[in-house]
Amino acid sequence: MDRSLILAWILVLCTATSPLCCKGYYSNSVLYVPPAKKVTYLHFFLQDTISGKNPSAVMVARPNMTTAFNDRLGLFGSVFATNDPLTFGPDLTSEVIGNAQGLSVSTGQDVLSLTVYLDFGFTKGEFNGSSISIFSRNPITQTERELAVVGGRGKFRMATGFAKLKTYFVNFTSGDAIVEYKVTVIHH
Ligand SMILES: *[C@@H]1O[C@H](CO)[C@@H](O)[C@H](O)[C@H]1NC(C)=O
Ligand SMILES: *[C@@H]1O[C@H](CO)[C@@H](O)[C@H](O)[C@H]1NC(C)=O
Ligand SMILES: *[C@@H]1O[C@H](CO)[C@@H](O)[C@H](O)[C@H]1NC(C)=O
Repeated sequence: MDRSLILAWILVLCTATSPLCCKGYYSNSVLYVPPAKKVTYLHFFLQDTISGKNPSAVMVARPNMTTAFNDRLGLFGSVFATNDPLTFGPDLTSEVIGNAQGLSVSTGQDVLSLTVYLDFGFTKGEFNGSSISIFSRNPITQTERELAVVGGRGKFRMATGFAKLKTYFVNFTSGDAIVEYKVTVIHH
């Protein structure tokens, strides 16, 4: 066989074994054999600043009702866009190791509570460039609460897990808070 024929055969074989082919936009479904999973524990503080000239969370929509638990936080239906720094220690001046970006929606009617849709991205160390997705109810008036980890990117691909939260500081007048996160992440 000449060279071009060999190359053509290699091409045919590669195409045949590629998982993405053959049926238009989808492949054949095959048995998924999950790789062994790992567990990683994370510990950091989330700095949520609503007040002041440089807020990390801003209200982007609110209903026009007048009933509110609280001017800044509590109006049922308020939507916040968030880019909260994650720090190694509890102080705002502590080393920043990532950020939480997404939306928080004030969804409690009887009790002040949020539902959060946040991507926690890390910018330091082993997990630089990786992130975990949290989609969960967040009853912020409870000092200790648990959020669900529903996915991840990069080294946290296919993540599941949970985050234990503890309010370290909160000012219900300004809406500012510092929250300790202890996260158990199970991932590929
Ligand atoms: C809310 O919006 C509705 C519809 O535009 C209006 O009729 C009502 O007066 C508004 N209520 C308040 C409290 O602004
Ligand atoms: C994190 O990753 C980015 C993009 O790859 C890189 O530019 C940056 O230097 C890394 N930072 C650290 C602290 O490793
Ligand atoms: C809470 O926030 C209010 C309004 O911004 C401020 O006046 C007050 O000093 C803050 N309290 C604490 C303990 O930080």
